[in-house]
Amino acid sequence: MNILCIGAGYVGGPTMAMIALKCPEVKVTVVDINAARIAAWQSDSLPIYEPGLQEVVRACLGRNLFFSTDVDAAIAAADMIFVSVNTPTKTFGQGAGRAADLQYWEKTARQILANSKTDKIVVEKSTLPVRTAAAMQRILDSGGGDVKFEVLSNPEFLAEGTAIKDLQNPDRVLIGGHDTDAGRRAVAALVDVYAHWVPRERILTSNVWSSELSKLAANAFLAQRVSSINALSALCEATEADVCEVSRAIGMDSRIGAKFLNASVGFGGSCFKKDILNLVYLCETYGLTEVAAYWQQVVSMNDYQQDRFVRNMLSRMFNTVSGKRIALFGFAFKKDTGDTRESPAIRIARQLVEERAQVVISDPKALANAKVDLRDLGDRVQYESDPYAAAEGAHAIALMTEWDCYATLDYQRIYDRMMKPASFFDGRNRLDHAALYQIGFNVYGIGKTALSHL
Ligand code: NAD
Ligand code: UGA
Repeated sequence: MNILCIGAGYVGGPTMAMIALKCPEVKVTVVDINAARIAAWQSDSLPIYEPGLQEVVRACLGRNLFFSTDVDAAIAAADMIFVSVNTPTKTFGQGAGRAADLQYWEKTARQILANSKTDKIVVEKSTLPVRTAAAMQRILDSGGGDVKFEVLSNPEFLAEGTAIKDLQNPDRVLIGGHDTDAGRRAVAALVDVYAHWVPRERILTSNVWSSELSKLAANAFLAQRVSSINALSALCEATEADVCEVSRAIGMDSRIGAKFLNASVGFGGSCFKKDILNLVYLCETYGLTEVAAYWQQVVSMNDYQQDRFVRNMLSRMFNTVSGKRIALFGFAFKKDTGDTRESPAIRIARQLVEERAQVVISDPKALANAKVDLRDLGDRVQYESDPYAAAEGAHAIALMTEWDCYATLDYQRIYDRMMKPASFFDGRNRLDHAALYQIGFNVYGIGKTALSHL
């Protein structure tokens, strides 16, 4: 079987590498219009940082895993085509700022139609509004020829930073298909691919619309947990309750569960915000105003949490950060990735620069992306890979990303070279606050009582 994936990004690259690894008899090709990205996938310096990814790619590259920019030829040769192009939030016209921008998606559908001479199974891997499969089917069927297309939904649930682990051992794989003979055959073909390594009972099948909606719903539920605990973190700060103790207490209730209850500076990443806004727009389109408002609040709370973080920094630093050096430790939206899309650090860095702080950004993997995100700020932001150098002469450090490396730094050495009073704002509750306080820092966590010498 020839499998093709259109879109060699954070999802297309790792997912296809895993399929190639687990299905050695299948030829897997990944194509993209971005030639630099395709070249990077074939080099020693992959276009994305993901623990364990290099090893998986190396094991299959040139054996049964191929990267190419020749989209048309690859479509012609494929039996099954995954579409994993980006589906960002629309920035123009109707639904701007909320609806999904489906231009890349539709372009791909038309390209598949134009280059297909044999029947194909087309698999939606991208995250899409519910009923997009119907639109795709309509485009594919508009050719009027003999070629038959069967559209499936197979949303991806991997998280960045743990993509390889998630792909090796997924909680579930979801495949949505139509309840027709051709639909059932297509579903069975895709089940067979995953069954190479995923236990059958974890491969769920459903109708197409449930599958499309389940992806949006899963992200909305996950983000909602983060917003819920972040909402409580504000109340903790006002009442001397400790949000970590609250998380622990509620997380031990097996009905609630312990995961995704870490209060933070806010959730980031390319998908939570975009997918919830997409859900909100979808609800509004169906006239479900109250449902839309309910989910919108998850995003609003996330914005509030980031703004609240900066407001707290300002008030703790005598209501001015003008001219003060502030080191941001971490810029990626979470640890173990270089991805900075929608990272809370972007909004926070911008607000600090607006307050005329001298912002210095440090991150083990995300500095290149940070420079692109903040390029319009020019030399008002500095970038420094060495955290010790970043903190030298600073009035404050703000931990933006929970990278393990920040937990093991010599904070006495850092403190000795900072301006006094030296503040530490832990946006992830990742460090030992009592130890930092002992050294001399004023320590401000999320949802915690301040440990201040002032
Ligand atoms: P990405 O931007 O990293 O990759 C998308 C790629 O598609 C880009 O390299 C782009 O050049 C390419 N592309 C766009 N139009 C093309 C075309 N016509 N032909 C060939 N290539 C084309 O995006 P991503 O993070 O991989 O996300 C892809 C989809 O998967 C999105 O819908 C996203 O919501 C979903 N998703 C992402 C994640 C994640 O962790 N990033 C997880 C689950 C689902
Ligand atoms: C998320 C989902 O977890 C994946 O299942 C999904 O496939 C993916 O979105 C997607 O559709 O793109 P991802 O965004 O890569 O994955 O990372 P998460 O681990 O979910 O973290 C998202 C954000 O929430 C990060 O900024 C993280 O720091 C934050 N977070 C997470 C918290 O602030 N607290 C928590 O307890 C958990």
